[in-house]
Amino acid sequence: MQEIVRQLEEKRRAAQLGGGPRRIDAQHAKGKLTARERLELLLDPGSFEEWDMFVEHRCVDFGMAEQSIPGDGVVTGYGTVNGRVVFVFSQDFTVLGGSLSEAHAEKICKIMKQALKVGAPLIGLNDSGGARIQEGVASLGGYADVFQLNVLASGVIPQISMIMGPCAGGAVYSPAITDFIFMVKDSSYMYVTGPDVVKTVTHESVTHEELGGAITHSTKSGVADRAFENDVEALMMLRRFINYLPANNRVPPPFRPSPDSADREEPSLDTVVPENPNKPYDVRELILKVVDDTDFFEIQPENAKNIVVGFARMEGHPVGIVANQPLVLAGCLDIKSSIKAARFVRFCDCFQIPIVTFVDVPGFMPGTAQELGGIIKHGAKLLYAYAEATVPKVTVITRKAYGGAYDVMASKHLRGDVNLAWPTAEIAVMGPKGAVEVIFRKELDDSARIAELTEEYRRKFANPFIAGKRGYIDDVIAPRQTRQRICRSLAMLRGKELTNPWRKHGNIPL
Ligand code: HXC
Repeated sequence: MQEIVRQLEEKRRAAQLGGGPRRIDAQHAKGKLTARERLELLLDPGSFEEWDMFVEHRCVDFGMAEQSIPGDGVVTGYGTVNGRVVFVFSQDFTVLGGSLSEAHAEKICKIMKQALKVGAPLIGLNDSGGARIQEGVASLGGYADVFQLNVLASGVIPQISMIMGPCAGGAVYSPAITDFIFMVKDSSYMYVTGPDVVKTVTHESVTHEELGGAITHSTKSGVADRAFENDVEALMMLRRFINYLPANNRVPPPFRPSPDSADREEPSLDTVVPENPNKPYDVRELILKVVDDTDFFEIQPENAKNIVVGFARMEGHPVGIVANQPLVLAGCLDIKSSIKAARFVRFCDCFQIPIVTFVDVPGFMPGTAQELGGIIKHGAKLLYAYAEATVPKVTVITRKAYGGAYDVMASKHLRGDVNLAWPTAEIAVMGPKGAVEVIFRKELDDSARIAELTEEYRRKFANPFIAGKRGYIDDVIAPRQTRQRICRSLAMLRGKELTNPWRKHGNIPL
């Protein structure tokens, strides 16, 4: 027996070495950790249960029979993050560049199916040269099997992709289907076709970094939800992030008691909104003052900055925050911000996370670039997402709520449960100046008269009371009481039950 155990330990050691010391050194030289080192950081100490350590590929072409390494380039299994079960796969670049063979794909699919069965999140640590070239179509089939399971798991268990190395070609589509993509700066990239193909086809010269680096995807394309400095920071942030998410779509998100009292008043909020309605303020400041312990995990902080989205807690319960950002483009809704917020709202709705919306929006962004880019369809995504959402929705209008954007931003009309306004709220079809210029076009030459009419319009409509009279606003509140009122609303809504009519699925304007 002892001999058998010794042999087993030897086999384990061989598998744990992956591609061997030379390739491990090369991985470290690039500033990257190995697949196993990453799992050690991500999971609670000693919690990792590895599966399929002894799986090997079945390819015999192109000298592959001699290149068989137990585990076949991916470490899979489950463990815990802060005591909660998660399933993980971590691609091992030291083994044939982490390339995906049929067997490698089968390992990933196995833990995905198990994650679905038990209802636990799936985390993928991606670091791969793509399809195992020696295996041809068998590896393409393996990718498709993963894609199919990604789609079936969508909205059932949270799926998170951490890109920690190359991710190219069709391989990008598995992360693309998952709920969140995080990337590591300087060492990860994602693109459908690399710089060489781009050069051949479009004659553009572009670097890996420009085409698909973490900065590109987190600031321009919107593909990545966050970019982190290095592997260690990325994995620490991932541990923090998981704390906001429920295990699956049938259980509520995790409660974590907070010393921050739900009744806390925040007098400084009374002066957050400047007296001049055209002066911006940072809505992040407002968010930090309202949520538990000033703890806010922002999603896509560097993309479409005119809207801020992210996770926080109110009285210990996770919430999704959506807020127009007056600091950027005056908080207008445009194509990018609509897409960013719509996807976030839909994630929250999938996973029973209540949505708190702070509104200060002058409308949809005008211009040919927006119209020709399809703002009609893209803006409709956000409208659709809010209207479809059945989770508790609490909305606070801090200042402007103009035009269609008023309707879109979780208004009462889109089944907002509790809609509050600060006394500074201006709820109208458009701003007073624009309104007067349309209604009194003939008097535009008389600037004194226009100023007078603008002031009259402001007095009459630029306040929350017209909406309040109709019940579109449930109450006008002192800004300092915002946290208290949101916490009470969410507590009242904890038993909310609302279902949409039966359908196979809706047809969101994609
Ligand atoms: C088999 C691969 C591989 C692959 C890398 N390797 N990619 N083996 N299949 N796809 C091997 C290399 O031969 C090498 O083996 C080791 O992994 C490390 O690779 P290096 O090239 O030395 O590393 P580096 O210089 O860091 O370059 C990384 C890389 C490059 C940029 C990813 O390896 C590369 O361009 N690989 C090919 C990428 C590719 O064309 N993949 C197919 C894409 S199409 P040794 O033994 O020397 O250590 C695709 C379709 C998916 O993925 C479709 C899904 C629907």
